[in-house]
Amino acid sequence: MSDNSLPFDEKYCPSTATISSGQKRKEDWEKSIKNPQEYWSEKAKAIDWFKPFSKVLDDSNPPFYQWFPDGELNISYNALDRHMKGVRKNKLAYIWEGEMGEVKTYTYYQLYREVNKLAKVFKDYGIKKGDRIAVFLPVIPELPITLLATARVGGVHTVVFSGFSAEALADRVNDCGARILVTADGSFRRGKPVGIKDNADRALPNMPNVEKVIVVKRTGQPIQMKEGRDVWYADALASAGANAYVEPESMKSCDPLFILYTSGTTGKPKGVQHGTGGYLVWAYWTLKWAFNPTDEDIYWCVADIGWITGHTYNVYAPLSLGITAFLFEGTPDYPAQDRWWEMIERHGVSILYGTPTAVRMFMKFGEQWATKHDLSSLRLLGSVGEPINPEAWKWYYRVIGKEKLPIIDTWWQTETGGFMISPAAGIELTPLKPGSATLPLPSVNADIFDEKGQSVQPGTKGVVVIKSPWPGMLQTIWKDPERFKQTYFGKFPGLYYSGDFAIRDPDGYFWFLGRADEVLKVAGHRIGTTELESALVAHPAVSEAAVMGKEDAVKGEVPVAFVVLRSGFQPSEELRAELVKHVRVAIGPIATPEAVVFVNKLPKTRSGKIMRRLLKAVLSGAPLGDTSTIEDEGSIEDIKATYNDLRKQLSK
Ligand code: PRX
Repeated sequence: MSDNSLPFDEKYCPSTATISSGQKRKEDWEKSIKNPQEYWSEKAKAIDWFKPFSKVLDDSNPPFYQWFPDGELNISYNALDRHMKGVRKNKLAYIWEGEMGEVKTYTYYQLYREVNKLAKVFKDYGIKKGDRIAVFLPVIPELPITLLATARVGGVHTVVFSGFSAEALADRVNDCGARILVTADGSFRRGKPVGIKDNADRALPNMPNVEKVIVVKRTGQPIQMKEGRDVWYADALASAGANAYVEPESMKSCDPLFILYTSGTTGKPKGVQHGTGGYLVWAYWTLKWAFNPTDEDIYWCVADIGWITGHTYNVYAPLSLGITAFLFEGTPDYPAQDRWWEMIERHGVSILYGTPTAVRMFMKFGEQWATKHDLSSLRLLGSVGEPINPEAWKWYYRVIGKEKLPIIDTWWQTETGGFMISPAAGIELTPLKPGSATLPLPSVNADIFDEKGQSVQPGTKGVVVIKSPWPGMLQTIWKDPERFKQTYFGKFPGLYYSGDFAIRDPDGYFWFLGRADEVLKVAGHRIGTTELESALVAHPAVSEAAVMGKEDAVKGEVPVAFVVLRSGFQPSEELRAELVKHVRVAIGPIATPEAVVFVNKLPKTRSGKIMRRLLKAVLSGAPLGDTSTIEDEGSIEDIKATYNDLRKQLSK
């Protein structure tokens, strides 16, 4: 999308929403920025504190901000125990549907009982405040139960997306030093069981800290259980006793709640660390502001709990608000391409929080799959993970929303803990614009900077920075405070650097334009090009590799690898397939390269830096631009020839 093609002036006012001028939103935002102490001391009352805080924000050691520093609370208490006193006790917390169509429900009380049993198991295993528990599970009810049980005993969870490889699992588990791993025998994908425990088994010999492995029986497929180390989840819970109760630990507001690994531009994935009080307050309020869910809603966030969206908006925000959330294990087009719409109709889902990739996929399938279902239960539609292009936005609005429902496009990141820039149905809705995430939420002091750190004029592209702290912000990178400072507060000293390009239009609306760095967004999944490159050069045939994102009509972008082979290796279809497989094994299927392009040389500057800009231009078909700093002119000819080859390959 070229920047000046953005349809700034197109405004949509869905017919079932009250659209306002934005005055209230503006006032609320101004109040939050002018006096954060007063603003948040009021808002934080929505949470139950064991020990009230006397101070909202300690900013004496930036960027290590401390929210509600002397307050104490427990997040599982806020998600569960506090609902035991009133009408919510017997209300549904979760409706879960598996890939094969089986449905399980949990009231808040039932969830509370399960969490207490698992918390007792953790206690019996000697888990103490601050110990890490790793989670390698598909989206099944045991996943949120594990997170809540961990929080209850004061542990720190780290969820590894169940589609990641054994190597990726071991890297993450070792970095955080987890003592327990909770996993499953497998899960269902397209109607077939796929192994998870077997992947964990490949990683376990390299994870010396893991003392116990708790295994949920999901598929019943045969697996290895190591005597003394591995225990079935059901047996462990039975040993805890049917009426187990574990006193929730009183946690300091800034005690870590979880570590979630995410890709950056250099090195291994970073362990983004979130705390307890600030994170929970942010989770609670952002969901309220953006979607304003009520007791009548059935709310469905489609994200896997392996990612931040699932952490915040499938677990902590909906449960602390006491609403009913729907969880789905599986594939959007299995057994048929109307799976989502069929489930929305059957369960009466009223809030759908989806993704641009899914919308574009449904567009490709054709609208008949959606229109044959009664979707009248829906009242709000959301989007997250990558920019939603205006065409997809309009399809979502017209075909799913029947031009009546607001599209809530939420921009945020693993690091931000929750929504940052988004329409705010819970404050007031301003007119929507297809493709824009609209305006910053309260406390989000966002700006757009040029390379020199100057705020740009409306209509000019730059990078998004956040100029003041907000409660949901990451606390640090696990075990690497220097990297935290450098990565996020080093580029423009003292300001949070998001790594995203955007434009602000004359109404102040933000239009996101993708990453400004070497991070890819493949179907909304965040993948660092360096991780793919390291995986490739670990193969004996590869001497050098450069991975770029190529625009894709459904997935947003896909990775394409340019590879220089070591002497003695010849390009071949077999080697290409082997390298693709190698990356899948090293990282996981989400990182599968769309194409591997063999080149004789990578274009480099005289100082030896790969000219990524040239490779990007080759992929997008854009003019190569200035090539005067290139070390070897000949490599351009090589690339151009390869480009033509590549085009043929990709169009196959
Ligand atoms: O590039 C932005 C994109 O996703 C990145 C964050 O990825 P992750 O940490 O995996 O979190 C994903 C879920 C919040 C951002 O830097 N992104 C996320 N939401 C949007 C988006 N880009 C444009 N519009 C969005 N709504």
